[in-house]
Amino acid sequence: MTSIALTSTPAADLAVDALIIGITTGGKKHVEGPPAIPDKARKDIERDLELLGATGKLGEITRMPSRGLVKARMIVGIGLGDVRILDYEKVRRTAGSALRSLAGIKSVAIVITLPDGPRIEAIAEGALLGNYAFHAFRGKSADSQPAPVEKILLTGDPKDKEQVAALERAQIIANAVNYARDLVNTPPSALPPEEIAQEAIAAMKKLPVRVEVWDEAHLEEEEFGGILAVGQGSANPPRLIRLEYAPRGAKRTVALIGKGVTFDSGGLSLKPPKSMETMKCDMSGAAAVIAAMGAIARLKPKVRVVGWIPTVENMPGGHAQRPGDVITIYGGRTVEVLNTDAEGRLILADAIVRASEEKPDLIVDAATLTGAQTIALGDRTSGVMGRSDEFRDKVWESSQRAGEIMWHMPIPEESRGTLDSPIADIKNIGDGKGGMLSAAAFLAEFVPDGLPWAHLDIAGPAFNEGGPHGYTPKGGTGAAVRTFIQVAEDTAEGLLP
Ligand code: BES
Ligand code: ZN
Ligand code: ZN
Repeated sequence: MTSIALTSTPAADLAVDALIIGITTGGKKHVEGPPAIPDKARKDIERDLELLGATGKLGEITRMPSRGLVKARMIVGIGLGDVRILDYEKVRRTAGSALRSLAGIKSVAIVITLPDGPRIEAIAEGALLGNYAFHAFRGKSADSQPAPVEKILLTGDPKDKEQVAALERAQIIANAVNYARDLVNTPPSALPPEEIAQEAIAAMKKLPVRVEVWDEAHLEEEEFGGILAVGQGSANPPRLIRLEYAPRGAKRTVALIGKGVTFDSGGLSLKPPKSMETMKCDMSGAAAVIAAMGAIARLKPKVRVVGWIPTVENMPGGHAQRPGDVITIYGGRTVEVLNTDAEGRLILADAIVRASEEKPDLIVDAATLTGAQTIALGDRTSGVMGRSDEFRDKVWESSQRAGEIMWHMPIPEESRGTLDSPIADIKNIGDGKGGMLSAAAFLAEFVPDGLPWAHLDIAGPAFNEGGPHGYTPKGGTGAAVRTFIQVAEDTAEGLLP
C-alpha cells in the first residue's frame, strides 16, 4: 500500500528518489516552490530543464539526475501549462501522469507552491489514482513489472488542519476508486455474484454500513423476476445486495443502484467473441456502489445512503431465458425479452422498484448498460439521463464537481413507443436507434412518478481498452465512484434533489 504524507522539510532537503516540480508556461518559466530550493540551485535546475527541452506545456514530463543540486537523486519537471487559469481536473491529471511515469521508483516528493486544501486534495487524488497497478493475477511476469511508488510526500504543513483534512479526503476517495478498479479487473471466474456479495460484506467490515444479501431462494420467494430470469442460464446463482449507511440525524435518503453483471456473454443472444473480451467489466456499476459506500461511511456526510446491487452472471446455459420469454419484474410489470443481451435493464428494473418501495428522496443508478453509449459519446464521456431534466442536470453538476466526464442526454418521448410489446407491458429492446436513450426509457418505466431519478450509462468510461492517460489506467477505471460520493455529500448539503 502506498503511503502519502505532508512534509514541512524544505524540498531541497528531502531524501527521496525523485523530486517532482512544476514548470509553467504563461509568462516566465520557473520552478514552482517557495524558497524551499535555494536560489542558486533553482537557477541551475531551471537551466538544465530548459537544456533538456522542457517548456512547461501541460502534461510534459522531463527527468534529469539532480547532480547534488538537491538531496533527491532525480528531478522530474512536470508541465503545468498556463497556471493563470487554475483547473483542478488538470492538476489531478498532471499529478496522475507524473506518478504513472515514475512506476518502479520507491519514493517521490511533490513540491507544492501554494499548499491550500483544494490543491493538496487534487494533487494527492491525482497522484494516488495515477499510481495504480493491478498485479494480483500475474505469475512469473510479476517481478518484471514496475511496482507503484511506495511513498509519496507533499510539501505543505502537517500541522495545518485544512491541509490534513484535504489529504485525508483525497486518500479516502482515491482508495475507493482504486478498489473499484480492482473489482472490475478481477477475472469473472473469481468474482461471481456470491463473491461480489462476500466482497461487499468484507469491504464494510468495521464500517457503519449494514449489509443484507438476498440469495436465490429469497429472490424467488419475493418474485424478483428480472434478476432470476437473467441469472437462470448460469451455474452461479444471482444475488441482490443491500447496503445501508444511516448516520444519526440524517434527514434525507439517497438510493444508489449499480448493475452487477459479473460476466455478460449475452446469454442465448450470444455476443461475438471480440465483444465478450471485456465483459468482466459489466459489474462496474456494482463496484462503484460498494466502493462509494465504503468512502461515504468514512467521510460521514449526514445523509442516509442505501446501496442496491442486483448481481447475476448472464450465461447461455440449458436453463437460460429465451428470446420471446415473458418475465415479471418485481412489483408486477411484465417484460417480453426479445434480446437476452439487453439484460442489465431487467435486473435494474427489479432493483429500482425495490429501492423505490423504501421511498428514498432520490435514486441514482450507474450501469455499463449499452454499447450505444460509446457510439454516442465515445469512450470517456458517460451519459446522464433522467425523467426530470432539472434533476438530471443537478446530478450532472455533482459529477462535474467530482471530476468525472459526463454529458446530459435526453429520454425522448418517442423512445417509449419503440418499447411497446404486442403481448406484454413492455419489451426489452427498442428499434435499434438511440440505444442508450431507449435503455433509459425502459428504466424510467419502473421509477415511480415524481421520484427524482438519474441514470448514468458508463459502458465506455468504465473500462479503458486503450493506453493509460492522466490518472486513468488501462482496464477498470472506477467510473461513477466519485460521482456517487459527491451525490451523497451534495444531498447532505441540500444541493440535491
Ligand atoms: N453490457 C452490455 C453493454 C456494454 C457494451 C457495456 C460495451 C460495455 C461495453 C449490455 O448488456 C448489452 O449487451 N447491451 C446491448 C443492448 C442491445 C441488445 C439492445 C448492446 O448495447 O448491444
Ligand atoms: Zn448484455
Ligand atoms: Zn450487460
